[in-house]
Amino acid sequence: MVSALIRSSWRQWGPACVALSIMVAAVWYWDISMQKSLAPASNLTGWLLLTLIVYLLAFNVRKKISVIPLGSAKTWMRWHIWIAFLALAVFGFHIRWQVPRGGLEVTLALIFAFTFLSGVLGLFLTVTIPTRLARHNETLIFERIPQFTNNLRRDAQQLVLDSIDGTHSTTIAEFFHRRLAHYFEGPRNRWSHLLGSYRVQFMLNREFRHVKPFLDDTEQTILAKLKTLTDEKHKLDVQHAGLWALRTWLFIHIPLSYSLIVLAGLHVALVLAFNAGGL
Ligand code: HEM
Repeated sequence: MVSALIRSSWRQWGPACVALSIMVAAVWYWDISMQKSLAPASNLTGWLLLTLIVYLLAFNVRKKISVIPLGSAKTWMRWHIWIAFLALAVFGFHIRWQVPRGGLEVTLALIFAFTFLSGVLGLFLTVTIPTRLARHNETLIFERIPQFTNNLRRDAQQLVLDSIDGTHSTTIAEFFHRRLAHYFEGPRNRWSHLLGSYRVQFMLNREFRHVKPFLDDTEQTILAKLKTLTDEKHKLDVQHAGLWALRTWLFIHIPLSYSLIVLAGLHVALVLAFNAGGL
């Protein structure tokens, strides 16, 4: 079993890992040779890095003009990740694995690091969230979740009104207003769901158990229905949190990528101006 898993992981990732290692070693060797010959090695790694960043940004352009056949999204995605790792190595060679000096250079290095890390986070979310959502019902369309939430709230409120009419007791109504009214109003507990915590559900279940002994048979039936709606709302919240994260990380990754290219352009312009001034 384990050896089959290793074999299939190797088939999937192995050749690309080897190719990436060879490319990194080639850039490293080239960089060292340039340094030995006293040629400006940073120019080589700098231009290479800029080319790689332009390629990474081209992913955004590729997505916008998907009508033109420029290769499948899956192939672009794979290359995007491998080129990003190559860019990380080239970036390290470029700054000689030292903390850069100068305001622009430090900002540029930080933006590169955050762009890279946001990409890693995004990849993690893209891989893990769909599997997790599949465990909590079929995956929904994000825009339709508010409508489903409204329906659940309406059904829950109707149950509470029925409980007052049918039993002349306000125990369920009080429980609802104290503990569930806010819960049904909209998406709740986003971070707790993203962290995979069961705490909220555990606490709600406990409160349902606590109120049950104070109810007669009719009220207990209504409470059971309210519990079913609460469980449905929990599933909606899990879906909402996951789909929200899958969208939101790109609102961080894309602006960082564009800031990176702007700052890199500025850095190149300053270096070129400085070199021209030195001649
Ligand atoms: C460091 C330089 C990087 C730059 C400049 C960059 C740039 C971009 C751009 C422009 C997009 C297109 C977004 C869109 O239009 O939807 C994108 C998407 C993406 N990037 Fe990066 N990226 C970088 C690093 C990374 C890294 C290191 C990873 C992961 C290890 C990564 C993973 C992704 C993923 C998963 C997507 C979304 C693909 C999709 O949802 O279809 N990126 N990146």
